[in-house]
Amino acid sequence: MSLTLAFDVYGTLIDPSDVIRQLRQWLGPKAEGFYRRWRDKQLEYSFRRGLMGAYVDFSQCTREALAYTCAAEQAPLDAQAQQRLLEAWAHLPAFADSAAGLAQLQGQGAQLYAFSNGCRSAVRALLAQAGLLNFFREIVSVEEVRSFKPAAVVYQHLLTRTQSTADETWLVSSNPFDVLGAAHAGLHSAWIKRTATAVLDPWGIEPDRQVASLLELAEQLPV
Ligand code: 2OP
Repeated sequence: MSLTLAFDVYGTLIDPSDVIRQLRQWLGPKAEGFYRRWRDKQLEYSFRRGLMGAYVDFSQCTREALAYTCAAEQAPLDAQAQQRLLEAWAHLPAFADSAAGLAQLQGQGAQLYAFSNGCRSAVRALLAQAGLLNFFREIVSVEEVRSFKPAAVVYQHLLTRTQSTADETWLVSSNPFDVLGAAHAGLHSAWIKRTATAVLDPWGIEPDRQVASLLELAEQLPV
């Protein structure tokens, strides 16, 4: 049985914190705190819209979260600066281990999919410019069921789209909400703990694997 591996994109394969470089040009030492608030608000908007049944393209959550953060931080970022930040968001780099880890897992016979809140066209373009697109059989987006992670419906949709069972499918993510959502939906899960300070929510749900990189995952998966 070959495993189906579904990879979260933002924060797992691709490094969103790279936008801090652009933010530092305008905000200096406030850049990191601004980014953290922007990312947290972007995800909060997706959670709220999923619960409300008010789906919009994830890029709208990103754009509106940026506008919120500018207002909340009273940051001097005009429309042009915000547009440059949103363009930077579409040109984020891969993490250093992404390509080598994906290549090793593919070489071990696993079927690889990208699985994201982002719409397929945006994720395709993002993975292509990061040099990762060719590792994946398909890109599965939550847009196809008009909800967001960690709603159970998106993990069921993943199984349908990949024509795989929960028992042969692993969700690979650095985002605890995604790992716990997939585990709750009955899939296997691997948490990529990308920073030493990252904390898994104390819900009593443990991922099947906890590793620091995709290379470490390749060493541990029963492919
Ligand atoms: C994703 O790529 C937002 O990281 C989340 O679906």
